[in-house]
Amino acid sequence: MSVEQRLQEICQEISVCQRCALAKGRINAVPGEGPAQVEIMFIGEAPGFHENKQGKPFVGQAGQFLDELLKAAGLERDQVFITNVVKCRPPNNRDPLPEELAACQSYLDEQIALLKPEVIVTLGRISMAKFINAGRISSIHGRTHNVNGQKVVTMYHPAAALHQPALRQTLIEDFARLKRFIGTKGAQEEAVEVEPKTVFKQEIKTIKLDSEVQEQKPPEQLSLF
Ligand code: URA
Repeated sequence: MSVEQRLQEICQEISVCQRCALAKGRINAVPGEGPAQVEIMFIGEAPGFHENKQGKPFVGQAGQFLDELLKAAGLERDQVFITNVVKCRPPNNRDPLPEELAACQSYLDEQIALLKPEVIVTLGRISMAKFINAGRISSIHGRTHNVNGQKVVTMYHPAAALHQPALRQTLIEDFARLKRFIGTKGAQEEAVEVEPKTVFKQEIKTIKLDSEVQEQKPPEQLSLF
């Protein structure tokens, strides 16, 4: 199975997921979208009103600003993978509950494992909290962290600038600095060591990818980790 096929399969699984109560209220699950070969992966919080309607991430007002921010970084949407920590809309856009985060976790972990992005950009504190234990977004926004060998850049959520216009320029400047990661997959970038959270390591289905077959790995099922 190719990475593309498995990513597609995960989308199908998410679209009919019944792991938590958010399934009851959704119009569409929002698995995320983007190509299978990406340098940068963006992770937001959860779908909002418009995302729930359309089944696509960041298509509302915050999404329009995200498009501007991507431009500031010299990126187009079709160059990056965009998803959320939670794939269904919480009622009235409340913060996802711990049980909802737990129910959705393996989907995102497998997306990350398949994409192997050079950099993960977290959008907002809920996404940041998946990777980083301590630190306030106001003091670590725009910074690069090394989390178990994965570069993670912690950004304000684009919606924050809709409520606090002063953050608009901060976000633009933080995004502009992402340019240093474009075209540099594998290049070394100084990263701040932080105490990692337990991520990427829980049990997931093992699958065999074409890339691994071409590398003449033994024919048995290979773990992604
Ligand atoms: N906010 C998010 O965190 N994600 C979306 O997809 C839309 C708004």
